[in-house]
Amino acid sequence: MWFSQVLIVLAVYLNVSYTYKYVGIPVDDEIFAKCQEQRNNQYEVNSLYDFSEFTLEMVGESVIGYGNVTTVWDVQPTDRIQLDFQILHLEKGTWQPTIYSMKVLDFCSVMYDKNQYWYQFWTRNIKHQDVVKSKCINTPGATLQHNVCNFTSIFESHLKLFGIYKAEIRLSAFDKFQRIRPILICCEVKVEFIRL
Ligand SMILES: *[C@@H]1O[C@H](CO)[C@@H](O)[C@H](O)[C@H]1NC(C)=O
Ligand SMILES: *[C@@H]1O[C@H](CO)[C@@H](O)[C@H](O)[C@H]1NC(C)=O
Repeated sequence: MWFSQVLIVLAVYLNVSYTYKYVGIPVDDEIFAKCQEQRNNQYEVNSLYDFSEFTLEMVGESVIGYGNVTTVWDVQPTDRIQLDFQILHLEKGTWQPTIYSMKVLDFCSVMYDKNQYWYQFWTRNIKHQDVVKSKCINTPGATLQHNVCNFTSIFESHLKLFGIYKAEIRLSAFDKFQRIRPILICCEVKVEFIRL
């Protein structure tokens, strides 16, 4: 299908490859920030997950997280979830767009895909995957339990990265008639990359 090809082409930008090695350090202890660019019907990450049983902590230089998150997004388990991802670079105090972006038309089909960037520091650490995998992020009430996630991660990329980047992450849900649901989730994650 054409969209899985788009996914592959765009995912190459973010995938692990073999050229440069970096440590990526989250800039905010809270990891997820509110999106600066406001759009209609856009909500913060706590409209996606209830984080009240999830703990984020600094251990030395690392930001780690553990515990449970429960989906609270007002969508249906049969909805298609689309992920849009845009990378910006901090240059002299302002965020400049980069050419790196990603559109995943069916996020649920790749949420636990080992080749995805988020697998390393997030979905890899979800417990009981055989049970929760089918619940994706479109099943209100589903709880994901986490082993310790280390958000300060070492990874390799063919990109030349320098300094501070942010990912603008947008999630939208579509019903079976491809009508968009009224609650869109948007968050920003800022990461400093240091070449090793
Ligand atoms: C996470 O959920 C499990 C299962 O319901 C529970 O046993 C555990 O205590 C919860 N953890 C936290 C940090 O609330
Ligand atoms: C997290 O990962 C980084 C990079 O691999 C490592 O230096 C650090 O010790 C890890 N932190 C914890 C608490 O495991």
